Amino acid sequence: MNYAAPENNALSPSIQIEPKILYFGMPVILVTTLNEDGTTNISPLSSSWALGHNLVLGMGFGGKCIENVQRTPQLVINVPDASLWRQVEKLAPLTGKHPVPDYKAQSGFRYEPDKFAAAGLTPVPSATISPARIAECPLQIECEVRNVTIPEYAPFFAIVETQAISIHAHPGIMAGGNHVDPSKWNPLIYNFRHYFGLSSALGHTYRAEV
Ligand SMILES: Cc1cc2nc3c(=O)[nH]c(=O)nc-3n(C[C@H](O)[C@H](O)[C@H](O)COP(=O)(O)O)c2cc1C
Repeated sequence: MNYAAPENNALSPSIQIEPKILYFGMPVILVTTLNEDGTTNISPLSSSWALGHNLVLGMGFGGKCIENVQRTPQLVINVPDASLWRQVEKLAPLTGKHPVPDYKAQSGFRYEPDKFAAAGLTPVPSATISPARIAECPLQIECEVRNVTIPEYAPFFAIVETQAISIHAHPGIMAGGNHVDPSKWNPLIYNFRHYFGLSSALGHTYRAEV
């Protein structure tokens, strides 16, 4: 697909729409959690935000990720760069949940106990928690889960609040010290179910340090 920037139409009236999804461009994360047999599951997610070292994730029930988190409240947020989109897409139809819930089977999911092998990714032990990290992801954030909330208005998903405990980065994305160099870091963006990287920089906020 070729992306063409639309004409700036800020002054034309908006139209009311009813889209099925609202994935308006979030970074993809690969969340690793501990299975009951001590192996590590990988779940692609795009629902996340950070405030300081507190990270909040949105997880659907019926998947293995939330089941694992409720048993062992630890996870790694592995952040792939744009070059890893094919590996992410290999994970997309897989679930660690067995048997596969009907509604997931109907949308084409199949059970896969070893997602590292299925996607060609490499596990590395975490420094502080049990689930493994993903070596290929340039950022790996080991987190403790602090709270799980199930909204009354939407009981089919969980809001999972986490705190970063230990953070790992590939040296190639660093600017020196503890600063990630934004010109070297190209997150994978989930844009209405299509994968994108970043285009060139537009500018920076007054607080940027590199
Ligand atoms: C790019 C991408 C983003 C996704 N974002 C989310 C998300 O934010 N929350 C969620 O619950 N599922 C999300 N999914 C679907 C899960 O990956 C899917 O439910 C899968 O079953 C998770 O694996 P698991 O069942 O082994 O945990 C996303 C899938 C893809 C491919």
